[in-house]
Amino acid sequence: MSSSSLASALAAATSVLAEAGVPSPRVDAELLAAHLLGESAGRVRALAYTDTPAPEGFSELVAERARRVPLQHLTGKAYFRHLELSVGPGVFVPRPETETVAQLVIDHAAGRPLKIVDLGTGSGAIAGSIAQEVPQAEVFAVELSPLAHGWAEQNLAPLGVRLELGDLRTAFEEQNGTFDVVVSNPPYIPALAVPNEPEVADHDPVAALYGGGADGMELPLAAVAAAARLLKAGGYFVLEHAEVQAETIFERMAALADWDAVATHPDLNGRARATSAIRR
Ligand SMILES: C[S@@+](CC[C@H](N)C(=O)[O-])C[C@H]1O[C@@H](n2cnc3c(N)ncnc32)[C@H](O)[C@@H]1O
Repeated sequence: MSSSSLASALAAATSVLAEAGVPSPRVDAELLAAHLLGESAGRVRALAYTDTPAPEGFSELVAERARRVPLQHLTGKAYFRHLELSVGPGVFVPRPETETVAQLVIDHAAGRPLKIVDLGTGSGAIAGSIAQEVPQAEVFAVELSPLAHGWAEQNLAPLGVRLELGDLRTAFEEQNGTFDVVVSNPPYIPALAVPNEPEVADHDPVAALYGGGADGMELPLAAVAAAARLLKAGGYFVLEHAEVQAETIFERMAALADWDAVATHPDLNGRARATSAIRR
């Protein structure tokens, strides 16, 4: 494809990717070309009306994408709210629905100098967004996987987030009862609910997907316990979870003496994908 025009290479790539079952073949082809050309996707669309040649290495990247390697692993970048995060093998690619979870915290903080911790930070998407959008906040994060921690370090160091390698069950124990906000998007997929998309099943780390136990609830409930331990009275907790877990999490938290104002929140598609509560 490198000797062909950008326009014909994009058309050919789109059909290769569509054939491979990639959900947004034209957009992915444009984003791969944009990555190689160092241009925006919009500029690539404009260049496709000129006699610009296809970039060197385009067909190789398209072939990898056709093998369902995540687009973000090929470009090395994921976009989350206003952040451009470095990602690759070993780290969970942040999802758009998690932007709503970060929004709940950012709205709650309302620019105040709160002390906030993100449990299971992965690439650092939630912690990094909060640090960027609530610059007065003091932001902490913990990640168990050394590989993911490496990516988080790269993304969070410039934003001043204090990152630890460790288990959310025991993280920041010396600071128990001192946080204003705890947020977490832990692993929560039930054991037998293996994701269909090869990008997820073959490339997201197993430790980022499965929550533990048949219902995937072990880590979400560990995050609830960690939040109760870390928050001061009146502190705010937000947890992302699967839609099928919303009712159980609501009931479990409402039954605990630790929490007031337990509330379920919809994602952008109206699905019950997050729960918040106030530490009593
Ligand atoms: C679903 S991913 C979410 C990552 C990131 N918060 C996001 O929203 O993109 C869950 C993350 O929790 C990490 N994790 C799993 N078990 C953990 C534990 N016990 N303690 C801390 N982090 C853990 C995984 O390695 C993974 O990075």
